Amino acid sequence: MGWLSVAVGMVSLLSLVHSVTGIGANWGTQATHPLKPETVVRLLKDNGIQKVKLFDADYDSLRALGKSGIEVMVGIPNDMLASLASSMKAAEKWVAKNVSTHITTNDVNIRYVAVGNEPFLATYNGSFLRTTFPALQNIQSALIKAGLSNQVKVTVPLNADVYESSTTLPSGGDFRANIHDLMLAIVKFLSDNGAPFTVNIYPFISLYIDPNFPVEYGFFDGNSSPVNDGGTSYYNMFDANHDTLVWALQKNGFGNLPIIVGEIGWPTDGDENANLNYARRFNQGFLSHISGGKGTPMRPGPVDAYLFSLIDEDAKSIDPGNFERHWGIFTFDGLPKYPLNLGTTNSGSLVPARNVQYLERKWCVMKPSARLDDPQVASSVSYACALADCTSLGYGTSCGGLDSRGNISYAFNSYYQKHNQLDGACKFPGLSMITKIDPSTGSCKFEIMMQPYYGGAGQRLGSLQMLLGLVSGLLFLLTVM
Ligand SMILES: *[C@@H]1O[C@H](CO)[C@@H](O)[C@H](O)[C@H]1NC(C)=O
Ligand SMILES: *[C@@H]1O[C@H](CO)[C@@H](O)[C@H](O)[C@H]1NC(C)=O
Ligand SMILES: *[C@@H]1O[C@H](CO)[C@@H](O)[C@H](O)[C@H]1NC(C)=O
Repeated sequence: MGWLSVAVGMVSLLSLVHSVTGIGANWGTQATHPLKPETVVRLLKDNGIQKVKLFDADYDSLRALGKSGIEVMVGIPNDMLASLASSMKAAEKWVAKNVSTHITTNDVNIRYVAVGNEPFLATYNGSFLRTTFPALQNIQSALIKAGLSNQVKVTVPLNADVYESSTTLPSGGDFRANIHDLMLAIVKFLSDNGAPFTVNIYPFISLYIDPNFPVEYGFFDGNSSPVNDGGTSYYNMFDANHDTLVWALQKNGFGNLPIIVGEIGWPTDGDENANLNYARRFNQGFLSHISGGKGTPMRPGPVDAYLFSLIDEDAKSIDPGNFERHWGIFTFDGLPKYPLNLGTTNSGSLVPARNVQYLERKWCVMKPSARLDDPQVASSVSYACALADCTSLGYGTSCGGLDSRGNISYAFNSYYQKHNQLDGACKFPGLSMITKIDPSTGSCKFEIMMQPYYGGAGQRLGSLQMLLGLVSGLLFLLTVM
């Protein structure tokens, strides 16, 4: 082998390593009509996404990931922490069923178990403070017992609110006072077991809760006036927030603990700051920011991160805000929302999901003859919105420009599509009708739902819920008629 071919060989080896450390994505499944798991895995592969983070251990999703080579972080939902904390047997069963089986019989490349999801979030009122660490310990013991502790590492995805800064500068970083000892115990445990710290960082939320947040500091264009921390300049919130964690770790003796950014992203709808332009700017800015492997001022080197998220989920709780159902870089049906270069494909553009099957091209809208002051309007709309999805209505959203009739039609159609275009789901008393003319205008898209898929257990549950929803819907329509 000549020098040239050695050099070429090394370059391709490097690019191979690079592709494995490339960007990951969060794959959540809280949707009324999720894409088939096989379709999602194909979508990941087509887009060169080599790492995926799940929020549970859904059997069909994991099976579909088998033999793909994609690195997987499986999740344990918070509501399972108590039982896993109190019973070693339960932890062993969880690992046997949700990790070992998939590795040995389905050839799934499971690399991490995420124990809980942001369990110390202030809004949970401390509900998971006592169970998270024991559950983490039990899962780790179960992995050791199963002989998997070298290839599968435990971690706890935490919200960035587990640390704070006394000075507002990164160098003032330390763990939140009321959970300081607990955080230290967890950090020591992760360090002892060669496991990473996982943190979710959201400049969008900072902007959402604080109208005075300097918008430019949320992005990566370097347009904001830098924050000076003892001679180090911070030009964006991500670096500053990330380094507040690095300082917190360092101060407590764990300055070298690996960090995974478990979630990072920007939503596209449901709020005036959630739009395609900002989402593209943030995500592309972040990808470019980390692409050189330059890292942050306190942690030079590659950043290991998972975009939040891959696909929109129309059944997520909107307690955090109406934007919560719109974090995907792809729409619910796997279409790219905006140009984004993940740096993982030759084309540099997102590849849509393949072979998506839609329902017929028809919509449920308000009858032209129906009157806006009809006394049934308000209750019909609130009923439809409660069971379907009206998060694209409202100030600054994609359908925020609709008039009252448009609003009502949007709500009716959302309900109709979620119920698979069943005739009974477009029977709002004297108010609704089915049309084949697309009511979409400008940025406001009246969706056509995908054909439901009845593959796995989760889907069967979903369709049962939907059936129940429809029965209660019919009851509602009967009572108001
Ligand atoms: C495996 O994970 C699934 C999905 O999160 C969960 O419902 C199930 O209870 C787990 N199995 C065991 C044995 O804990
Ligand atoms: C937390 O406490 C508040 C106020 O007491 C309550 O409204 C909320 O439902 C609680 N949340 C949880 C997750 O328990
Ligand atoms: C349309 O609905 C949204 C959300 O419910 C509301 O904020 C807005 O005022 C409505 N617009 C009209 C013209 O009725």
